[in-house]
Amino acid sequence: MSQLDFKVTAGGVLKGSLRVPGDKSISHRSIMFGALADGTSHVTGFLQGEDSLNTLRAFRAMGVTIEGPSSDGNVVIHGVGINGLKQPDKALDVGNSGTSMRLMSGLLAGQSFDVVLSGDRSLSKRPMKRVTDPLALMGANVETEDNGRPPLKIKGGSLLKGIHYDMPMASAQVKSCLLLAGMYAQGQTCVTEPAPTRDHTERMLTAFGYPVIRNGDTICIQGGGRLTACDIDVPADISSAAFFIVAASIAKGSDLTLLHVGINPTRTGIIDIMKLMGADIELLNMREVGGEPVADIRIRSRQLKGAEIPESLVPLAIDEFPVIFVAAACAEGKTIISGAEELRVKESDRIQVMADGLQALGVDAQPTEDGMIIQGGLIQGGKVHARDDHRIAMAFTMAALRSQGDIHIEDCVNVNTSFPDFVALANSVGLKVTAEEANF
Ligand code: S3P
Repeated sequence: MSQLDFKVTAGGVLKGSLRVPGDKSISHRSIMFGALADGTSHVTGFLQGEDSLNTLRAFRAMGVTIEGPSSDGNVVIHGVGINGLKQPDKALDVGNSGTSMRLMSGLLAGQSFDVVLSGDRSLSKRPMKRVTDPLALMGANVETEDNGRPPLKIKGGSLLKGIHYDMPMASAQVKSCLLLAGMYAQGQTCVTEPAPTRDHTERMLTAFGYPVIRNGDTICIQGGGRLTACDIDVPADISSAAFFIVAASIAKGSDLTLLHVGINPTRTGIIDIMKLMGADIELLNMREVGGEPVADIRIRSRQLKGAEIPESLVPLAIDEFPVIFVAAACAEGKTIISGAEELRVKESDRIQVMADGLQALGVDAQPTEDGMIIQGGLIQGGKVHARDDHRIAMAFTMAALRSQGDIHIEDCVNVNTSFPDFVALANSVGLKVTAEEANF
């Protein structure tokens, strides 16, 4: 057996500019809607990470012709129309990708054929009842393993009917799953969200000519429509940019610009949280690209201060907490994060794994049921475990900018799920990271 570890040399200053890879959420959706559209869709800036590639492979396996991605992220999708998917020969393995599994479960519940969705060790432990329960209310037939875990066995030919669902948690994946199922349902499907979550599905459905109606916190779709091909320019992923926003804030003397980053207001919690902690962040050259707002983000280092993070910002920065915990460790004073229990069911239990790692580096980080209390101070060098979670690996990489000694991070191979070429890009702006195969 072998694993990939990161060894990060302590210290560093970040200078220059970089464009991080394409947005993961938008990349997944571009394949799904492009595949179901009438006509040919061109995608630029597609994320060539394992997660979005798994979505791409799944649609190929269902008979969709997809060219690319080319080395610079161009993808051409020859849509088969809303009812044009074909039964795949075998189970669709979506690897580590919760977004693929949850969104596709809705879409596949409306097909005429049976299909199985499976995933890797981490995904196989993640909760799927949050999608299978409301899908069952719509009339779908989806079997899970004990406790609602994957694989999902989806029976085709179910007649779906629209429902009005009050979502118990703020989840864009659940919302999107139901809207996708809603395209195949009789009547109207409405989802009410307890707090705003990312709205890429709604925006992209609109771009593909499928009407979506938002009324306050409720989003509705009428079944029986069609999608028309369209071109998608995928901006750089703010969730990948987040590592560098924190990095340039904490590494003294830094001045870094991140190019062409998506700043959809349902994703910019990281900017609000960092500003609350005193960060120096400037949005430049703001523009709109294919229905999504985009900007260049300039960050100059500044001493951060602890803050109590408003719970309303949590869903708007849900993937950014591993690196926000690192920012808190570098801040003066105490940071309190609450209302973030969803972090316990991400690619790892991000509350426990981050608290364990920060404590191993000598930080006073106390996990709570729904968040963490972190007293800023010195970060020691040492060894931490990423538990196969891409965002944990990248967050601890950034911690080395302020650590007293080097940081060795175990189990980093999944960085490839969302951020291909992370090590090279990080080194190009001033980090000192090497990736090493460890055999055991
Ligand atoms: C995503 C939604 C979020 C996020 C995930 C991507 C999406 O999950 O954590 O990385 O693309 O819809 P939840 O909606 O379950 O919070």
